[in-house]
Amino acid sequence: MATYQEFIQQNEDRDGIRCSWNLWPSSRLEATRLVVPVSCLYTPLKERLDLPPVQYEPVLCSRASCKAVLNPLCQVDFRAKIWACNFCFQRNAFPPSYAGISDVNQPAELMPQFSTIEYIVQRGSPTPLIFLYVVDTCLEEEDLQALKESLQMSLSLLPPNALVGLITFGRMVQVHELSCEGIAKSYVFRGTKELTPKQIQEMLGLMKPATSGQQGKPLAPHDDSASCRFLQPVEKVDMNLTDLLGELQRDPWPVPQGKRPLRSTGIALSIAVGLLEGTYPNTGARIMLFTGGPPTQGPGMVVGDELKTPIRSWHDIQKDNARHLKKATKYYEALSNRAAVNGHGVDIYACALDQTGLLEMKCLANLTGGHIVMGDSFNTSLFKQTFQRVFSKDYSGEFRMAFGGTLEVKTSRELKVAGTIGPCVSLNTKGPCVSDNEMGVGGTCQWKICSLTPATTLALYFEVVNQHNAPVQQGGRGAIQFVTQYQHSNTQRRIRVTTIARNWADAQSQIQHIESSFDQEASAVLMARLGVFRAESEEGPDVLRWLDRQLIRLCQKFGQFNKDDPNSFKLSESLSLYPQFMFHLRRSPFLQVFNNSPDESSYYRHHFVRQDLTQSLIMMQPILYSYSFYGPPEPVLLDSSSILPDRILLMDTFFQLVIFHGETIAQWRKAGYQEIPEYENFKQLLQAPLDDAEEIMQTRFPMPRYVDTEHGGSQARFLLSKVNPSQTHNNLYAWGQESGAPILTDDVSLQVFMDHLKKLAVSSSA
Ligand SMILES: *[C@@H]1O[C@H](CO)[C@@H](O)[C@H](O)[C@H]1NC(C)=O
Ligand SMILES: *[C@@H]1O[C@H](CO)[C@@H](O)[C@H](O)[C@H]1NC(C)=O
Ligand SMILES: *[C@@H]1O[C@H](CO)[C@@H](O)[C@H](O)[C@H]1NC(C)=O
Ligand SMILES: [Zn+2]
Repeated sequence: MATYQEFIQQNEDRDGIRCSWNLWPSSRLEATRLVVPVSCLYTPLKERLDLPPVQYEPVLCSRASCKAVLNPLCQVDFRAKIWACNFCFQRNAFPPSYAGISDVNQPAELMPQFSTIEYIVQRGSPTPLIFLYVVDTCLEEEDLQALKESLQMSLSLLPPNALVGLITFGRMVQVHELSCEGIAKSYVFRGTKELTPKQIQEMLGLMKPATSGQQGKPLAPHDDSASCRFLQPVEKVDMNLTDLLGELQRDPWPVPQGKRPLRSTGIALSIAVGLLEGTYPNTGARIMLFTGGPPTQGPGMVVGDELKTPIRSWHDIQKDNARHLKKATKYYEALSNRAAVNGHGVDIYACALDQTGLLEMKCLANLTGGHIVMGDSFNTSLFKQTFQRVFSKDYSGEFRMAFGGTLEVKTSRELKVAGTIGPCVSLNTKGPCVSDNEMGVGGTCQWKICSLTPATTLALYFEVVNQHNAPVQQGGRGAIQFVTQYQHSNTQRRIRVTTIARNWADAQSQIQHIESSFDQEASAVLMARLGVFRAESEEGPDVLRWLDRQLIRLCQKFGQFNKDDPNSFKLSESLSLYPQFMFHLRRSPFLQVFNNSPDESSYYRHHFVRQDLTQSLIMMQPILYSYSFYGPPEPVLLDSSSILPDRILLMDTFFQLVIFHGETIAQWRKAGYQEIPEYENFKQLLQAPLDDAEEIMQTRFPMPRYVDTEHGGSQARFLLSKVNPSQTHNNLYAWGQESGAPILTDDVSLQVFMDHLKKLAVSSSA
């Protein structure tokens, strides 16, 4: 029999799924005792070279409240041409086109290797993709120049028939007409006055002119005469748009000494959202905001223009002293929801040394599946390459982006779906498989994901509803079906269906089997997402306390120990790494805001709740590689004891790649040994981590920040803040705090943390 490791890997490769448990506890009571909920990470558009889509539509269960898709778990009677739904047990006749099926002539969707399958749906006319650039002109000359070049470059990467549009903003907002002939005009808006969607559409001439006695009506969507002027096929206007971008000037309004430029980001975004809403609702579109500073006027302003008033910090927020925070957040949330309703994604590229208001604006990307990229300047390879990578293509030459997705979840009767955490919004679809208990965004079995990539990964949480006294039949399996409908970047509508099943197990008699089915990596990420989700609305210490309680309970449940004897405590292999993940998570910027600005925290959390398992693990517990003369490069413990004078370390935190030269290596490098022919091997040693870093940078999105430092260097703090401080302050721990609940104290070493955890786990009073 395959090991669980192999089973987990196969399932991830085939279905893009990692479950916390691979045997499911057969009753609600048992499930709650397992601490980590039945849950999974799901990557709906995981790239699959071996999965050519089929050219027909899925066959659905005929029961109106079910409509599950025919899948390999269904019982089929080939002679009678009938299939039984594995979710509701409805017996369904196959459609006439399946008349020829038999044991030996099965459609793909019945074969076990197609538990994930993709259908191309032919309905409707294809609509081109839309890219609306929203560009801040209050930039330094260097930034503006670099940004203009990146934007011009991007035009050559778009599909020729894609529609493009341009809005620029500073003190005023300009919507540029991109007519194919004649002189280009632009419509100018004040940056201070809030406009209703209808006003925006009227001012842009997107409404039919009012006739006597009748109000103006919106033009029919896709009506060329209106939308044409602002959104044009790139193949028609790329020359002119390239010129137009080339001629963009910095905002002409003078900025007095001691002031910030007046930046009308809020109005610019509302016009962008209004323009697409009025012309192309429910069509794949990205609004791409490029900004170099915080919104400083009008609705959505984050800070005033007086430089002596700094932008809000965590300290201000905790003291309830962030004047514009609530109002601005509310403003951007309303815009986000409108964009989401229309299926439009919003990306934010924020490049500046100071904060730009990501905290207030992040919902735009969070709710619509958009990207957030944060950098110091537009003239950095971090921005330039990341932006270019947005338009990267897969092996078949298609863009790695999809639009207008909806994810629907169906469960077998013993399960209900409690919610999801990821870049989506609820579609508020009630149904028999929706749990009353919410985890993440719940109360629905359908979510909208306006824009997604092959990496977009959702965390889904389930509730076992089967009662303890109504055991599941022996050998029974629970099943979940994920149905993702989306617009492929080639504009086809597609449906990806993944159907998974896991065996039920009785947690009393089979607890060891359940334990060995535990996927500690997936579970750590799933619990971390719950923690990060809480951190958005709860105080930091409360979130840590919650995570600690879960960890202690898990250790009590599965640890082997004699009561009150910490030294006897042991965890089996399937859980042995889990506490360490939690240790690093507690210290991570996803939960600790100390030393980070609110924008940085928002940025880190944004990426954490959407990346796949591998990337998420790197974020939680960075990877450290060592390079030395004593052998080939090897991974080493993320621990201060790994920092040695004759080693080079490469640390990957997902957001940063840090190359750290140990003391001796740094001295040799300073002395220039690498230039001396006899020390060729030293030169090679110096080069090896650079090559490995380069390889990581090739595929990572967003591009990580690259830091080259050494023993005693000022940037060594990047490394020192991540490693386990095994050789420092080992004694700074204390038992429970104000609440009296046992908690694990901050910033101690892993050893102290583990000792403390063991004590709490074995304690008869905890
Ligand atoms: C961008 O940075 C590079 C390297 O630092 C510099 O050479 C170049 O002049 C900068 N670009 C602009 C437009 O200033
Ligand atoms: C585009 O460029 C051509 C050639 O320079 C010019 O005739 C035309 O008017 C331009 N269109 C716009 C919208 O600027
Ligand atoms: C994203 O949006 C959801 C739904 O509004 C919210 O609960 C969650 O906290 C947000 N996540 C982040 C990282 O902003
Ligand atoms: Zn059914």
